[in-house]
Amino acid sequence: MSMFKQTVGNFLEKKWPWAYKIIVLPKRRIQWFFIWRKSGLAIRDEAAARQSLKRARGFKQMVVPERDAVRYVGTNPEEGTAQLAILMYHGCKPSDTVFELGCGALIAGYPIMQYLDAGNYFGIEPNKWLVEDSLKIPQIKETASQKSPRIAHNTEFDGSEFKTKFDYVIGHSIFSHAAHWQWPLFLKNIDTCVGPGSKILVSLHFTEGNTYGDVGYKGTELDFNEWVYPGISFFRKETIQDCAEKYGYNFKVDLVAPMLINIAHPGANHSWILLEKK
Ligand SMILES: C[S@@+](CC[C@H](N)C(=O)[O-])C[C@H]1O[C@@H](n2cnc3c(N)ncnc32)[C@H](O)[C@@H]1O
Repeated sequence: MSMFKQTVGNFLEKKWPWAYKIIVLPKRRIQWFFIWRKSGLAIRDEAAARQSLKRARGFKQMVVPERDAVRYVGTNPEEGTAQLAILMYHGCKPSDTVFELGCGALIAGYPIMQYLDAGNYFGIEPNKWLVEDSLKIPQIKETASQKSPRIAHNTEFDGSEFKTKFDYVIGHSIFSHAAHWQWPLFLKNIDTCVGPGSKILVSLHFTEGNTYGDVGYKGTELDFNEWVYPGISFFRKETIQDCAEKYGYNFKVDLVAPMLINIAHPGANHSWILLEKK
């Protein structure tokens, strides 16, 4: 979608929401219907994903988005709900344990914690102030006191302090900023925290791009030696897959996750992968 069309859409949504609903929304729906078909997403999978989104919307979203931490991560509350829907679609139950990489301002953490049984939400966030800032919001504080989340603060993707095997690991917009050496580091350190059947879902940018708006990059991941933020980094699909397989995962490109994030954030174009530990 062009920048111009996006801007007009955003303008109409704010100024004349009725016009947005009548003109823009149906047009966008049809356009994206064909984009997802072209990407290979089956109609039944899209329908099931929309059902998960409906369920996820039954949990509260963060309602105080004007905060430094929220501005820093640049995630909107609906994207938090979409991340819960991604987990639900992939079979996550309240009794499962979830480890959120780069949980930031807890925008996804808040609905995910509500869904999970107490003690089952774990996160990792090197910028401790992001978590602390969000924990000052009364609704988040209350949920946190009921659900007892545990959050580590290191840059090594090291969750070993929790001595838990996570059923799900989710990382939205973490490897889309990562240096090339952070992918093998992540796989090495997460290895002690997963078991057979554990699922890892992360978003990133492939140098190959994708059919829903990512134009890709001509170089390789070796051009990215450091974490880049707010810029973005790219990995060759082959590098990601080979390394994941070396650590004993089945590798799959996931099309449901980007579709759900795109509903929440029109124009979002991260690719997502699903790793399943053998
Ligand atoms: C774009 S934000 C996304 C935050 C969150 N996942 C969301 O959806 O709102 C990127 C996050 O990654 C965190 N981060 C940076 N380096 C990291 C690392 N080595 N391990 C885990 N998280 C990291 C940042 O502090 C920030 O919170």
